Amino acid sequence: MTDVIIEQATDILRLNDRGSYTVPTSGLYPFQWNWDSALSALGFSHFDESRAWTEIDTLFAHQWEDGMVPHIIFHEEDDGYFPGPDVWQTNRPIPTSGITQPPVTGFAVKRMFDRALDRALAEERARALLPRIHAWHEWFFRCRDPEATGLVAIIHPWESGRDNSVDWDQPFAAVPTEGVEPLRRRDIQHADPSHRPTDDQYKRYIWLVQKFRSLGWDNAKLHDASPFKVVDPGFNAILLRSCADLADLADTLGEAEIAEASRNRVAVGIPALDALWSDTFGQFLCLDRCNGSLIQSPSIGGLLAAFAPISQERAVSLAKRIVDLSTRCGYLVPSHDPVAPEFDSLRYWRGPVWLIVNTMIANGLDQAGQGDVADQIRTDSVRLIRQSGFAEYYDPISAEPCGGEHFTWTAAMVIEILKLHGEKA
Ligand code: GLC
Repeated sequence: MTDVIIEQATDILRLNDRGSYTVPTSGLYPFQWNWDSALSALGFSHFDESRAWTEIDTLFAHQWEDGMVPHIIFHEEDDGYFPGPDVWQTNRPIPTSGITQPPVTGFAVKRMFDRALDRALAEERARALLPRIHAWHEWFFRCRDPEATGLVAIIHPWESGRDNSVDWDQPFAAVPTEGVEPLRRRDIQHADPSHRPTDDQYKRYIWLVQKFRSLGWDNAKLHDASPFKVVDPGFNAILLRSCADLADLADTLGEAEIAEASRNRVAVGIPALDALWSDTFGQFLCLDRCNGSLIQSPSIGGLLAAFAPISQERAVSLAKRIVDLSTRCGYLVPSHDPVAPEFDSLRYWRGPVWLIVNTMIANGLDQAGQGDVADQIRTDSVRLIRQSGFAEYYDPISAEPCGGEHFTWTAAMVIEILKLHGEKA
């Protein structure tokens, strides 16, 4: 059975492979997405190491001169997606969006390097990627943490990768909707509208894009100019984990300066992250940087903090919190607490389970010695696949498959889980 699932997952990766990059799924997402590629490369690395490295190389071939790696690369024209290059207007030779996504590449590249069978290839590709990934990390601290707090802000919900999380409801109130160009939504033609963000949210997403566009996508200006600035614990955990992994990789490759700079980021960032802890919820919360308050929203962003090298005490508390959540759903980990009034079991990041986040949380819990809870998360992930196939996301109560089908990163995570933990999952 395990072999059959791995075979089906491999077929999905091949189906969505466009040669040098992979689309998340055809139709709904016809281009290359940033963190999708980093995580999907892990799936490829189990059966084609060279192709896995190419996925990351292609992503970094579109890195901006200032160090940012964009969230979408529009390799080919396709009017089946909104907002397309005509809305972003970033003025690049191959069009890209103008914002970024969770920087999980440092983690992925270290993992691919450590387990590579072709050592010469791994060394060559990792050595070339190392300074580029480091430049991206430094871009974050320069452009998204101008006051050097140790944590970075996202300036658009799409940067978090958790597009319509309940976390953004309150800070979104500060984003206007007047003057927004007419929406030409395509997503609701490809997927069930009740599984997707609302029009009101889309207006605010596009308002921010128009605002940043009017500033010429100059990252020296965007952070301060944005009415939406949120410090997301999940996003920062991914960045800090990638810095820690990059430091180790840099040591192995003899790049002492990158190692030291990356380690310093972790040393400052982890205590800063702790200020986002909430005893009331037993997890981390987002901080609204525009008004300095913690957003009282028990989302999966605060659980994803387990991915970073946080203290043992916090990791144990997060493990407990996840066990507690398991009493309120059939499948871990819901993207929002089912007891919260905003919980919506079908709507994107307001309740459903996503396998990529599951895999990262489980990995963090393993590192913190919380392997039992990590195993429970992985077992639930595989149960979802057996029951409902390779969907974009799933209802945490009924296991209903939601969003797009034949989804690349879902397939990649299944390969990763079954190859590394097959027996237990
Ligand atoms: C959605 C998700 C985002 C992902 C993209 C492509 O926008 O919220 O995290 O990267 O789809 O799969």
